[in-house]
Amino acid sequence: MTGYNDGMDIRTLADEDLPAAQALWSRTDHLGPVPDAEVAQLRTFEPDLVLAAHDADGLVGVALGSFDGRRGWINRLAVDDRARRRGVARALAAELERRLEARGCVQVNLLVLEDNRPGQAFWTAAGYGAGWPLLLHHKRLDGPTSDGPAWTSAAMSPPRDPAPDDPVPPC
Ligand SMILES: CC(C)(COP(=O)(O)OP(=O)(O)OC[C@H]1O[C@@H](n2cnc3c(N)ncnc32)[C@H](O)[C@@H]1OP(=O)(O)O)[C@@H](O)C(=O)NCCC(=O)NCCS
Repeated sequence: MTGYNDGMDIRTLADEDLPAAQALWSRTDHLGPVPDAEVAQLRTFEPDLVLAAHDADGLVGVALGSFDGRRGWINRLAVDDRARRRGVARALAAELERRLEARGCVQVNLLVLEDNRPGQAFWTAAGYGAGWPLLLHHKRLDGPTSDGPAWTSAAMSPPRDPAPDDPVPPC
């Protein structure tokens, strides 16, 4: 990693960042538009877990964090194409970890689609283990259930018996 040094700034997302953040999510592979209500809700309850990264030319990254009192979550992490592989995502994740830890959070979780290899590579490089011994059980409340979108089942790894020394995360 070359490292991002020339003035990159990680800070709490501000109102004036919202248009650029929405534009970034909308054009980002594996993501897409994020409902305004989702961002608003997170910013209402934990405003300083919603982060923006800026360089001299403007907003280059965003991440939505949340804390449920036990676990932290990181969602919608996006870095602009022009700023990738310069440590922006790593800096956003590290700052979220710092802010979550200050709240007493001991584990941070996130979800990545199975076909998002760059996303998986990033999270692995950032120290996030993947997969077992957890399965995601999920139920849609907005319509489709057993015939839900292909990704809901395709993204699941087959169950595997845990090895005796597997750590059991406090999920
Ligand atoms: C995944 C993403 C957030 C990474 O952002 P980034 O700022 O480029 O990542 P960083 O520069 O902090 O990368 C840190 C390390 O992660 C790994 N990594 C990052 N992107 C990678 C890629 N495309 N392929 C392989 N490894 C990658 C590398 O080990 C990298 O270190 P290196 O550059 O020294 O090799 C960015 O590519 C993105 O916005 N992707 C689309 C949205 C998405 O998939 N979000 C995450 C899933 S929720």
